[in-house]
Amino acid sequence: MAKSMPPIADLLDNRQRILVTGGAGFIGGAVVRRLLKESNAIVFNLDKMGYASNLTSIKEVIEELGDTYQSRHYLQIVDLTDIKAVQKAVRIADPDLVIHLAAESHVDRSISSPDVFIESNIIGTYNLLKAVRSNFEQLSQKRRQQFRLHHISTDEVFGSLENEGQFSEITPYYPRSPYSASKAASDHLVRAWHHTYGLPVVLTNCSNNYGPWQFPEKLIPVAILKAIAGDSIPLYGDGLNIRDWLYVEDHVDALLLVACQGTLGRSYCIGGYSEKTNKDIVTTICAQLDKHYPDSAPHAQLIKQVTDRPGHDRRYAIDSSRISSELGWKPRHTFEEGLARTIAWYLLHQDWCKTVNQKISYSKKRLRKQKLTLC
Ligand code: NAD
Ligand code: DAU
Repeated sequence: MAKSMPPIADLLDNRQRILVTGGAGFIGGAVVRRLLKESNAIVFNLDKMGYASNLTSIKEVIEELGDTYQSRHYLQIVDLTDIKAVQKAVRIADPDLVIHLAAESHVDRSISSPDVFIESNIIGTYNLLKAVRSNFEQLSQKRRQQFRLHHISTDEVFGSLENEGQFSEITPYYPRSPYSASKAASDHLVRAWHHTYGLPVVLTNCSNNYGPWQFPEKLIPVAILKAIAGDSIPLYGDGLNIRDWLYVEDHVDALLLVACQGTLGRSYCIGGYSEKTNKDIVTTICAQLDKHYPDSAPHAQLIKQVTDRPGHDRRYAIDSSRISSELGWKPRHTFEEGLARTIAWYLLHQDWCKTVNQKISYSKKRLRKQKLTLC
């Protein structure tokens, strides 16, 4: 039976110093904002400030909260591949809780440039584990008892499903893209540090997130922004690949619950109970925009089938019953509510999108080569 989300300050208990890696990214930013708004914890935000990073949302919250809160957010511009810098950052943060989100996260980029995925996601996690373990071993007994490292992973480590079935915590790993293989490797490292060295860890594997502030190279922001601009909306392959969509704030609820109350050494699968084909997603977005932004309606005429992503996983679906029964989590937003909020947000933040869009320079080559077909 799902319970309501406990206050974050209660969940954190005595954990005052929180190191969030990747806190300038989409999900990390949402975690940092919630910690700043709903607790008194000091947040150390370790991020290399890459193409997907942006601090606007955090700055807005800090301004909203006033000066007192500004002293609770410390940005540490550090690349996890630099072991010395990581060791120094962890020493300074001296954390009671580490929420590890930093990773290269876009499958398309991992296909065109896998090196940085291997370096950031595998070597980066290895470096973090070494630095965190060394700090953990110096903590007082009281702080050691409450310390945790929460590693955030993806449902993509499990591979691809046919029409039936769902991924759960006992599904064997079968990653099939450079991104998912690098995430799987990092999951294995985290488990190894728990079993071999006794580092207190928890892990989560989540499905596709969406919501405000998502970097506009992922499907939902791409579709919204292309439609608003009157540009073609690229739909890979037959458009019938299925993803399970979760509103980002619901993921943050789940992450904070697992980080503080999950059983050590365990992993938790997190999904949105919201399986959709990509074609459903883009046509729903187009129909919504026909109502709220009639300028280039009917927007569905902009949907174009393009050559498929190489190795494109067919279907992901998640059985979230462990996190639901053990920790009382369930998503607070239906897909319809979350999507409506997201579309409204992108309509209001087109300037932000234009600025960050200038950082997209990757797989255009692949898309340019593709023949566009009207859907
Ligand atoms: P994102 O790309 O928006 O943000 C990732 C952040 O990590 C960026 O700010 C980036 O600069 C930082 N980073 C990357 N490599 C780094 C390095 N070497 N050193 C320091 N910082 C580095 O990604 P996101 O969508 O917010 O995803 C966050 C995490 O959640 C990732 O681990 C991802 O695998 C996982 N995840 C994402 C989703 C999703 O749908 N977005 C779903 C499940 C799991
Ligand atoms: O499942 C969780 C994963 O979800 C996370 O681990 C990743 O970090 C996150 O990026 C996301 O991966 P996907 O590859 O599923 O997300 P993306 O938004 O890139 O694509 C979603 C689906 O839409 C996928 O089937 C490919 C398709 N697609 C994507 C884009 C960008 C299109 O058809 N057209 C597009 O332009």
